[in-house]
Amino acid sequence: MRTQQQIGCSAAGLQTDTATAPRIEIDTRSGMPVGPKFWPRLLRGDVFRSNGADFLRANAVEFGDLVYFQNFGVRVLQCNHPELIQEMLVRDAGHHHRGLVMQRSRMVLGEGLLTSEEPLHMRQRRLAQPAFHRERIAAYGEVIGEFARRMTGQWTEAGVVEVHSEMLLLALRIVGKTLFDTNVEQEVESIAEAVDAFMGFLPLAFLPMSHLIQQLPLPLMRRIRRGQERLDTLIYRMIAERRASPEDRGDLLSMLLMATDEESQEQGYAERMTDRQVRDECLTVLLAGHETTANALTFALWLLATHPEVQQRAAAEAQQVLKNPSQDSLRGVSSEDYGRLPYLGQVFAEAMRLYPPVWVTARTAAEEYLWRGIRVQRGTILIAPQYAVHRDERWYPEPDRFDPERFTAVAKAARPRLAYFPFAAGSRQCIGEGLARMEGVLILATILADWELTPESGAGTAIAVQPAITLRPAGPVKLVVRRRQMPDSR
Ligand code: HEM
Repeated sequence: MRTQQQIGCSAAGLQTDTATAPRIEIDTRSGMPVGPKFWPRLLRGDVFRSNGADFLRANAVEFGDLVYFQNFGVRVLQCNHPELIQEMLVRDAGHHHRGLVMQRSRMVLGEGLLTSEEPLHMRQRRLAQPAFHRERIAAYGEVIGEFARRMTGQWTEAGVVEVHSEMLLLALRIVGKTLFDTNVEQEVESIAEAVDAFMGFLPLAFLPMSHLIQQLPLPLMRRIRRGQERLDTLIYRMIAERRASPEDRGDLLSMLLMATDEESQEQGYAERMTDRQVRDECLTVLLAGHETTANALTFALWLLATHPEVQQRAAAEAQQVLKNPSQDSLRGVSSEDYGRLPYLGQVFAEAMRLYPPVWVTARTAAEEYLWRGIRVQRGTILIAPQYAVHRDERWYPEPDRFDPERFTAVAKAARPRLAYFPFAAGSRQCIGEGLARMEGVLILATILADWELTPESGAGTAIAVQPAITLRPAGPVKLVVRRRQMPDSR
């Protein structure tokens, strides 16, 4: 037996009426929202076979805005409506802890921003925040352009480039330089290996007894530990060097080492961060800021290559901004150019709608509570799947079509704010959002002003995705790059 709840409500910033209010169906026997049954899925093998992102999207289509299911005994509530997502991530945040994957990632990340709980999280966030302020980020614009030009300098005329590995390397160099003012060139390989091992750990995090599996001498666990040891050596060495000559180098590491926090003393924490805390935050930022940005850029480049009319318009905008008026050449980007590239901003936003690097955001109920008449038991996992919500046709007609016009100011104002949340929301919203958006737009401008992108002949128009901790392309993304003509001098 099922009953329908359809409640029109206008929570802060949301414009839903009864036509777009959350559709919630309750199974009257269990008192929980309807959803897929575990055993039939297990017997069919779907639990192992199905792609997690597609599974969550299918749930939203079949069962409505609040879906309940179990995964190996773990209770999961899936929220598919902007109003429910606002309640989950913002209004009811006090009922929640981090999701399972982040809790189990403490083995690698320690107690950094991504993994720590309150009140430590708020304290660390307050200390790290100044490093991400607009003025501080503005200083990174030229570094981003310089690294991007160095990368394209290696490309050959009409050559084939595997853009995912290029973007991973580029994003890693940028995060290393801007946040730790260090050239990670020597360490790029070990960092990339450690990140890869960490991402491969995701499937284990969902298994029952995952905490015991983490202790086993499995090759994967050994790889994660090896990668972690190499990263630790690098980061502790940088911390020691900075402590020895503590001037402000303008990067995150300086900010973390200098940060003092009077409020934290009242809460019983040391006023300054210990080496271990600084290490946890550095590692967190390195991991959080690298693969996410690289994936977003890879998907954006592939979408541009497969949509020549969008690419043409974006390239024209980039060339107009970056062309040196006196010579027939292009100058490097700076942070001031970010505001002059609105169409590229729309392109990057639309790419993250279709392929959100963080494809699902999770929390764990830290206590039992009632939500819209539903008893949320302690330990229940609550998820807000960006991948499914961003492809909901109520907010995005023809949702699978790439169309940057969806991100004009007028189009954005016409839908609920949390119909789009690639950087999540609430007190744990991405601290690097401003940097990531600027980085994305400036890198795309640098590439497009100079290079035309086309898919390899025979490549289809679809790209397969692999939803791990981040949403990645499932295989290499090869594009043909050809140098562009400069526009006529005006
Ligand atoms: C396109 C690129 C990026 C995307 C899509 C992205 C997405 C996200 C999301 C969805 C969260 C929230 C996770 C949650 O609520 O559970 C998050 C948190 C975080 N991100 Fe990003 N991120 C990106 C780039 C960056 C960059 C460039 C940095 C730093 C340089 C960064 C640092 C962080 C940190 C430290 C957190 C934890 C914040 C907290 O809990 O207080 N991210 N990111």
